[in-house]
Amino acid sequence: MTLKYVNESLTFDNIDIQELDQTIQTPYYLYSKNTIDKNVDEYISELKNINSLICYSVKANSNLSILSLFAKKNLGFDIVSGGELHRVIRAGGDSSKVVFSGVGKTDEEIEFALKNNIYCFNVESQGELSRIDAIASLLGVKANISLRVNPEIDANTHPYITTGLSENKFGISQNDVLSVFKMISNFKSLNICGIDYHIGSQIVDLDPFIDSANKVLLLINELEKEQIDLLHVDLGGGLGIGYNNELPISRGEYVRSVSEVFKDKNLKLIFEPGRSLIGDAGILVTKVIEKKNNNGKKFIIVDAGMNDLIRPPLYKAFHKISSVKEHNTSKDLFDIVGPVCETADFFGKDRRISANIGDLIVIEDAGAYGFVLSSNYNSRPRAPEYLISDKDVACIRGREEYKDIIGDEEEYLK
Ligand code: LLP
Repeated sequence: MTLKYVNESLTFDNIDIQELDQTIQTPYYLYSKNTIDKNVDEYISELKNINSLICYSVKANSNLSILSLFAKKNLGFDIVSGGELHRVIRAGGDSSKVVFSGVGKTDEEIEFALKNNIYCFNVESQGELSRIDAIASLLGVKANISLRVNPEIDANTHPYITTGLSENKFGISQNDVLSVFKMISNFKSLNICGIDYHIGSQIVDLDPFIDSANKVLLLINELEKEQIDLLHVDLGGGLGIGYNNELPISRGEYVRSVSEVFKDKNLKLIFEPGRSLIGDAGILVTKVIEKKNNNGKKFIIVDAGMNDLIRPPLYKAFHKISSVKEHNTSKDLFDIVGPVCETADFFGKDRRISANIGDLIVIEDAGAYGFVLSSNYNSRPRAPEYLISDKDVACIRGREEYKDIIGDEEEYLK
């Protein structure tokens, strides 16, 4: 995190957050281009001698200006919907470097992806294979196919963000994957190009990554015996970040360790990082509206809500919370909560912090799965997004207004 106190005021990437209060109304997301560049460059430098492609996982943060930063670094993109492909194209991304993941691709999305010549579909079921084949055949094109295998590995992460267990909806089971690969040759409009897997998100241990890579390596050996040759292996995303002083594996160590597993195979390695590229590059800035004390339980009520950042209630996720003014006074324990009418509307519980009404507060590490998961719940306009590039702070998405939350509903009003 590029947050530090300078003269008792919190700075983010050398920008004094208090000073922004003159021009930017809270709540708002603020991202740092320097941090994004640093994160990408760590991946790039580790992979420079390896046949590889980094496909940024668009779901983590899909703002066009953020996607454009990745496009300018020549990254590919991991998408899960037609809407994400539309964003990639509008941001200037190269659709021939796009992999399309997800268990429920619609016919329209498959057609849209084929017409835009994406690199590969990460297929999750036999039914999906036939649908892609039929649509590709109608369009007179061939579709590149990778099969997503479920390596049945426990990633030791929150149950909602683990994906590599047989009880999860994702992927094809290891037992079936060989026979499904064999089926592909029956389809005239499909080309086999790879195998993919993704075991979960916010993973902070190396072991699940290594174990799953080894399991997939065994499968690749099996495929070779059957003369099924692949061009790539797609290792998914999942590398965690340090939300609460936990020490995640570094990007370098992660890339080195998993690449090592496949070193004897002549395969392109595809990575789909999301959080580890953007998570620590963003903060949510909010303001204290009210303080209250209910029978000794103390609350700080801020102007951002769970509609802006839902990770704490949804995944019991921990985000550090800091006051923008550095206070030396003794600090009490507070629950930091929002204005939404839900008990789940909290950012942190029992936090030692001091802040007065009108003070700014920062929710840290909010760059990934922050704005993208926001909503208009309680008819709250979604927050704007800003990007720091060197000394410049630019708006990259404006604040929604009341008219935006009503949309076209008035046209239907009887
Ligand atoms: N590839 C696939 C197939 C995925 O499903 C995901 C994330 C990624 C790559 C990127 O994973 P990452 O590198 O960001 O861990 N909303 C949750 C996280 C959901 C992750 C979904 N899949 C959260 O806020 O923690």
